[in-house]
Amino acid sequence: MGLKNKDLLGMKQLSAEEIMEILETAKTMKMVLTSGNKKTSHLQGKSVVTLFYENSTRTRLSFELASKYMGSASANISASGSSVSKGESLLDTVRTIDMMATDIVVMRHPQSGAPHFIAPYLNASVVNAGDGMNEHPTQALLDLFTMYERFDSFEGKNIAICGDLYHSRVVRSNTIGLTKLGAKVSVYGPRTMVPVGIEKMGARVASSVADAVKDADAVMGLRVQLERQHKSLFPSVAEYSSFYSITSDILALAKPEAFLMHPGPCNHGVELPTAVYNCDQSVINEQVTNGVAVRMAVLYMLMARRNSL
Ligand code: CP
Repeated sequence: MGLKNKDLLGMKQLSAEEIMEILETAKTMKMVLTSGNKKTSHLQGKSVVTLFYENSTRTRLSFELASKYMGSASANISASGSSVSKGESLLDTVRTIDMMATDIVVMRHPQSGAPHFIAPYLNASVVNAGDGMNEHPTQALLDLFTMYERFDSFEGKNIAICGDLYHSRVVRSNTIGLTKLGAKVSVYGPRTMVPVGIEKMGARVASSVADAVKDADAVMGLRVQLERQHKSLFPSVAEYSSFYSITSDILALAKPEAFLMHPGPCNHGVELPTAVYNCDQSVINEQVTNGVAVRMAVLYMLMARRNSL
C-alpha cells in the first residue's frame, strides 16, 4: 500500500484507483481518530515539517495533529518567522529542511507550481497544501471523503460548486478528482470569476446558482477570496450575496438528501447566510474532522511508499 509517486502535488497526478485507496485508508484513520486512543506508531521515527508561506488554520493544524497522532517528530515553519524574511530563497529554504533528514515536507505557497518546482530537488516527499490558484489536493480528498461517507459510488452524482471560482484551488482540485471518479460537476459564480479552462477540466458552467444547485447530490460554497482580488471582480459584497449566495431557498432546489459543504474559512452572509452554514444539511464541521483523517491517510501512504523502496 502506498502512492505511486514520491510527492502529492495535485489531483492531476492521482489515478482514480489511488484516490479510492486514500479514501478507504481515511476510513480506517477516522476510526482511529474517533476512538478513545488516537495514537498510532505508523510514523514512529519519521519527521514531518510543515512550511507555510500563507496563513492557514485547518490545513496546517490538521497536518500537524495527523503527524503527531501517528507518532512522528513534527515541526512547523512560517515564512514570516524564518530566514525567508532575511531574503533566503525558496529552494535554499526547502533544501535546508531536507538536509535535516526530513521525510515529508508539507508546503503552502502563494505561487502556483511552487511545490512542483521544489519536489525534484528534495529527498523528502512533498505534499502540496495549496499552491496559489492551482490546486489544494488534500482539501479535495477530504471533500471527496465527506461525500464518500454518504455515497456508495461517485458515478453519476451531481455536485454543485458555487462562489469565487476564479481564485479557488479547491474548485480545480475537486473538479479534477470528482470527474475522475465519474461524478458530474456544475459550477457557478460571477462571469468575471469563471476560470478559463474549467470546462476542459470537466465542469459544466451553469447559468445561475439555481441552475447549478437544482437536483444536486451535494452543494459546495466557496469563499470569496478578497485577499487575492487586486481589482474588484464584482460590484459590491451586498450584490454578490443577493445573486450568488447559497440561501435556504437555493439549497431547497437540491435533492432532499443533499448536503452542504464549504472548505472554510467562510465569510458569513456573503457566500452563505449563517443560518444555512449551521443548518441540518451542513457537514462543514464534519469536513474539519475528516481533514485530519485524510491527512493521516496521505502521510501514511507516502511513508509506505518510502518504506518500500
Ligand atoms: N480550507 C483551508 O484550506 O483552510 P485553511 O486556509 O484554514 O487551511
